[in-house]
Amino acid sequence: MNVYEVANMRGLIIAGNWKMNKDLFETQQFCFELAEYLKNHDEERVLPVIAPVYPFLAKAQDILLGMPVAVAAQDVSAHDEGAFTGEVSAAMLRSLGLKYCIIGHSERRQYHGENDELIREKLLRLFGQSIIPILCIGETLEQRESGETEIVIVSQLEGCLRDIPLSTGAEVVIAYEPVWAIGTGRTATAAQAQEAQALIRHWLQNRYGTAIAANLHILYGGSMKPENIGELIAQPDVDGGLIGGASLKITDFCRMIDVAVEQAQRRQDG
Ligand code: PGA
Repeated sequence: MNVYEVANMRGLIIAGNWKMNKDLFETQQFCFELAEYLKNHDEERVLPVIAPVYPFLAKAQDILLGMPVAVAAQDVSAHDEGAFTGEVSAAMLRSLGLKYCIIGHSERRQYHGENDELIREKLLRLFGQSIIPILCIGETLEQRESGETEIVIVSQLEGCLRDIPLSTGAEVVIAYEPVWAIGTGRTATAAQAQEAQALIRHWLQNRYGTAIAANLHILYGGSMKPENIGELIAQPDVDGGLIGGASLKITDFCRMIDVAVEQAQRRQDG
């Protein structure tokens, strides 16, 4: 199953960013329960993704092998190999068979000093291994309140995608995550998410052309949960979610996939 094989229509991606949560046992438990749920998941336009911590990626891959779900890493090194203690390379992720990797998360930017230039290097390493980056961008509260949302989003796109060619739009996923909404319980309204994401798509259109921009998935992230996901993914430029806290509970995660399935069917009808 591949969410990108659906001609002329973007699917929905429901991605759980586990951050630094769940030990080996909890990871296994979640994956077994997810595998059970996925036995009845046959909506090809909705791709669930989970991003456990590095040490348990292989275990998650094993349990979910052949199921309609992708396992993603939460980060990758900007280097190819060698003396970089604690780092994991794109080639290593590739050797696990991973198809997706989150980069540029605001927590990496904030706590690890990552900037657009470094994130761009990571993106290039992933491209080199045919892994699809889930590239996170988004403004802080201060930036939003001083009316800089658009400038920030555009400069992050410019910085992370500088001189990066795209051929179909399926090689990268963008996650719009307003920093003020992450882990705060303060979700962007559907209108705020749509406004920012339309702006992102517009920038992509100018840079890469209409067809590529139309093919590219733009996710929303920031306090998304079963209660608000429906309204958010009903927006035309919100192609799913990158979900932290609410993705950790299997029942909530599956409920959000259910909502996405309904929305995918509506998108097709409409
Ligand atoms: P949250 O995190 O859903 O817990 O707000 C989202 C994210 O950081 O990707």
